Amino acid sequence: MIDPKTVPMMRLGDGGSIPCLGMGTFGSDRVSPEEVAGAVAGGIRVGYRLFDCAACYGNEEQIGRVFREAFDEGVVKREDLFIMTKVWNDMHREVEKSCLKSIKDLQCDYLDMLFIHWPFPNYHAPFCDVNSRNPDSRPFSVEEFLDTYRQIEALVDKGLVRHIGISNMTIPKMNAVLDQLRIRPAACESEMHPCFQQQELLDYLTAHDILPVGYMPLGSPRRPERDIEPGDIADMQMPELLEIAKAHGVHPAIICLKWALGRGVLPIPFSVHNYEANLRAAVTEKLTEKEMAAIASLERGNRLVKGQVFLWEGARDWHDLWDEDGVIVDCTDC
Ligand SMILES: NC(=O)c1ccc[n+]([C@@H]2O[C@H](COP(=O)([O-])OP(=O)(O)OC[C@H]3O[C@@H](n4cnc5c(N)ncnc54)[C@H](OP(=O)(O)O)[C@@H]3O)[C@@H](O)[C@H]2O)c1
Repeated sequence: MIDPKTVPMMRLGDGGSIPCLGMGTFGSDRVSPEEVAGAVAGGIRVGYRLFDCAACYGNEEQIGRVFREAFDEGVVKREDLFIMTKVWNDMHREVEKSCLKSIKDLQCDYLDMLFIHWPFPNYHAPFCDVNSRNPDSRPFSVEEFLDTYRQIEALVDKGLVRHIGISNMTIPKMNAVLDQLRIRPAACESEMHPCFQQQELLDYLTAHDILPVGYMPLGSPRRPERDIEPGDIADMQMPELLEIAKAHGVHPAIICLKWALGRGVLPIPFSVHNYEANLRAAVTEKLTEKEMAAIASLERGNRLVKGQVFLWEGARDWHDLWDEDGVIVDCTDC
């Protein structure tokens, strides 16, 4: 058990605060909703207060039952938890409906943060093949994004959502929308791990006072098949990481988490077996400057979530999703 009061808090971009490490809940096609909910139940009891959920993870009902139990048993109060979830791509025109369903499933009365999971409404069926394409998919549109965002702003006004999050954004997309938002985004969730550091994105978020939340902080060794490619690098097997982990007497996962925290990123590791050790990473000794520098040298540009299934007709390949040349690819109204 880790006393939640000893877990440092981070500042959100809109002035609020949030525990510096949370539990991910994406079981993908490998861990059942019941097992994930079991980890959340255990997580609450060892001191986790932040949970990263999503409508499309297909387990909010099971997790909601666990929250309810913890409230009823007096383990925690609702206000002790920071519950985040995300609007899936097929609900961008019906954000309130999606929000109310998540609140009902999670049995949590309101959401601490609601993210726009992806910045476009391109939908793919759960467990779909990497080569599947939805003919309705289209490139990013500023107006469509703003419409979705404004629906969440209205939910903040109604008291259903406390903070607004964005996810899977690029710098060009943020440049196109940020100054048109009435309520500042509090956080941005992005893939970040030692072999995919996204330093430029991190610097941008920091400069714009948006808290960086790092997903797949351990390099997601059991990610879905569709996100596995032959050339992918296993972060936790990098010799430099192994060496630092050995010196600390911990698993390399713990070093990945300490590295994230050391660079101002809030990591949300998923685990059904090692979650207590992961939270402990937030309350034990920090990495030294030398260790941070050694991990900084592990950047390999190894993006794991390439997003192929979100491509629109006419797109070249997944690189088009990430605006790598500094302009929004095929933007319809920029
Ligand atoms: N916004 C988005 O688009 C987006 C995309 C992807 C993910 N996410 C969020 O980010 C979360 C984390 O990403 P992820 O789940 O893909 O990957 P991850 O957290 O990088 O890796 C999770 C894997 O690492 C193992 N692991 C965890 N702690 C460990 C430890 N201390 N020692 C050894 N192994 C350990 C887990 O196995 P055990 O269970 O056996 O410990 C699990 O298989 C997700 O759950 C989700 O909430 C968001």
